[in-house]
Amino acid sequence: MKSRVRKAIFPVGGLGTRFLPATKAMPKEMLPIVDKPLIQYAVEEAWDAGIEQCIFITGRGKAAIEDHFDYSYELQHTLTARHKVEQLASCQQSIPHAGSFAFVRQQDPLGLGHAIWCARHLIGDEPFAVILADDVVMNPGGASCMKQMVAAYENYAGSLVASVLVDQNATSSYGILDVESEGEVLKARHVVEKPSPEDAPSRWAVIGRYILEPAIFDPLDRAVHHAQTTQGEIQLTDAIAALLPETPLYGIKFDGVRYDCGSKVGFLQANIAFALERPELAEPLKTFLKTLDL
Ligand code: G1P
Repeated sequence: MKSRVRKAIFPVGGLGTRFLPATKAMPKEMLPIVDKPLIQYAVEEAWDAGIEQCIFITGRGKAAIEDHFDYSYELQHTLTARHKVEQLASCQQSIPHAGSFAFVRQQDPLGLGHAIWCARHLIGDEPFAVILADDVVMNPGGASCMKQMVAAYENYAGSLVASVLVDQNATSSYGILDVESEGEVLKARHVVEKPSPEDAPSRWAVIGRYILEPAIFDPLDRAVHHAQTTQGEIQLTDAIAALLPETPLYGIKFDGVRYDCGSKVGFLQANIAFALERPELAEPLKTFLKTLDL
């Protein structure tokens, strides 16, 4: 019987240079959408999908992420004394079960593939999820993106990636699927990392949600070994491609809207979209937006 997806990796070692100076002393994953940091959306999505163990691949300067998922005794004490029940609840919402979070340092920024490889001993021999906090998916009232992927994994064994159609001129920012057949899911014969628009095999882009088999650590091992001599970046996309065709690759066309919160425009769009979903913010925000001479 196929193993359940119980573990998720959150690569959070990136520098976040696109959000400088905000990210000079603060991890980019702590940037808020309305009032919740990006990384908390990612973790809540994992929990919603039944993930029990969260593995963060961190780097220097990322301690705020660990602190965010821990008690803040002074704050909780003060909120309790002042009977701030709602605020207290919102602080406690992000506390995981003891022992269910692990933090691994990626000493060198050698790419997404290397970040995943850093978790190899904690993953062991079972399938696992990868969630990139930069990509936020909103699906009001419906299943989260990862929950939809975990459900799809019951029917499609192999590598699963969440996919969206992007503009032709945006292919150079994504892993792009070479689609063999398109039905309920996309079956891919190949995947290429950031091809130029002229070379892109399709407009189906990989966004930051993956379910991978432990076999992925074989090509990653080889790439890490090779990179020791070349100092090149290790791409997760290349490792997924190296497993083909034995481990098939499926693109999941999920329900929901994805915001690229690694870009300023995407981040602003997400803030507006999520605020409009909040009853107490929607009306004042709409009133303000109408005053803008757009
Ligand atoms: C990474 C992956 C890329 C994927 C993207 C999704 O790129 O390498 O294949 O399409 O995430 O967000 P990055 O955005 O880290 O450059």
